[in-house]
Amino acid sequence: MLLTGRTLSFSGDPAVDASSVKYTENGAVLVSDGHILWTGQAGEEPADLSDGAECHDYGDNLILPGFVDGHVHYPQIGVIASFGTQLLDWLEIYTFPEEARFADRDYAERTAKLFLDLLVANGTTTAAVYCTVHLESAEAFFAESSARNMRMIAGKILMDRNAPQNVRDTAQSGYDNTKSLIEKWHGRGRNLYGVTPRFAPTSTPAQLEACGTLMSEFEDVYLQSHVSENIEEVQWVKELFPGARSYQDVYAQYGMLGSRALYGHAIHMDEADLAQAAETGTKFVHCPTSNLFIGSGLFRMAEICASGVDVMLGSDVGGGTSLSSFATMKAAYEISQFCGYSLTPEEAFWLSTSGGAETLSLGDRIGKLEAGFEADIIVLDLYSTPIIRQRMNQAKSLRDMLFAQMILADDRAVRATYVAGNLVHRAADMEIRSV
Ligand code: GUN
Ligand code: ZN
Repeated sequence: MLLTGRTLSFSGDPAVDASSVKYTENGAVLVSDGHILWTGQAGEEPADLSDGAECHDYGDNLILPGFVDGHVHYPQIGVIASFGTQLLDWLEIYTFPEEARFADRDYAERTAKLFLDLLVANGTTTAAVYCTVHLESAEAFFAESSARNMRMIAGKILMDRNAPQNVRDTAQSGYDNTKSLIEKWHGRGRNLYGVTPRFAPTSTPAQLEACGTLMSEFEDVYLQSHVSENIEEVQWVKELFPGARSYQDVYAQYGMLGSRALYGHAIHMDEADLAQAAETGTKFVHCPTSNLFIGSGLFRMAEICASGVDVMLGSDVGGGTSLSSFATMKAAYEISQFCGYSLTPEEAFWLSTSGGAETLSLGDRIGKLEAGFEADIIVLDLYSTPIIRQRMNQAKSLRDMLFAQMILADDRAVRATYVAGNLVHRAADMEIRSV
């Protein structure tokens, strides 16, 4: 299959080296067997590789790697846009009751299908996904992700205290069920496993210890959790773990930091926390729409990146307000403005594609339009609404064009999504029904 159109990819961080932005007006991407075989100028495809290829000419649409979402809760799509609370009340009032429904395998399956339909309709092809505490919720998710051959990281939440009984496990069952899910799903097809303790307040020391044990038993699985999102939460952690220097230090004490560890939010951090994260290679996921919506605070991205911590972006739906990477990039820009700098669109698109893939240690497989990479590719209509068309008529540079998209575009811009070389979404087929 040969895709032609404008192409955009990044060979590295554009903030470090501006020449890492690879944009081609008349670009081409040759795909075979789920992988990219070749990319370059349209018309210059090597004949031996492109012979007999089916051609899809996307004209002036933009072809780029699929978006990567570093933090999202699939069971929370039913509680997105819930009014009027901050984190701890939001969990009690809206989130735990909805998550309790995922003990039902059928509900979990239907929601996993809807979630993945919505993800690809938004151009997201890889995500680090929280399921619920129920084994069934993770089984349902991995089964659906496998059926679509998606590169997904996911895990069953571990939560054995400070939550209603119907969303709790125990230190032992959390460990046993996580272990059996890892053995079944990690590395099966394109699935990867993330050990998922919800956050320190909902795990006993015994359960956190079990998480550390799992991380030492399975060296290439991920760990995902939340850290220092909300002031009251930080205070609560101080009371629950008086021996820890800080919230993040609780995780350090249980062997839960490291290059496969992904922590959402990381808002209320001090210098020692940043130094500890940088030293251990621990990753932070900036969840800007969620941090605004739940009123948690402002993630100081420039300062955190400068301290040597790898960062990526996450939607954090249902705390976050959109599955669209455009919405996430826009909110990240708005927060950057509050923090005294302006996030460039090159940086934002890089973070949403190959930068995010690097933070997930997947930078050699996804996130770039390069030979050998997995063919998770999206096609964006750069003129998807009247106001974007008007703005694009005045765009004078690639930066201007990308910035207009990041501020104004949404799922209407996603014309096509390919997962491992298969067309899984086309704007024209858009009919997604609720669960
Ligand atoms: N902290 C613990 N659980 C959650 C959750 O589900 N969403 C968010 N935003 N923060 C959390
Ligand atoms: Zn979250």
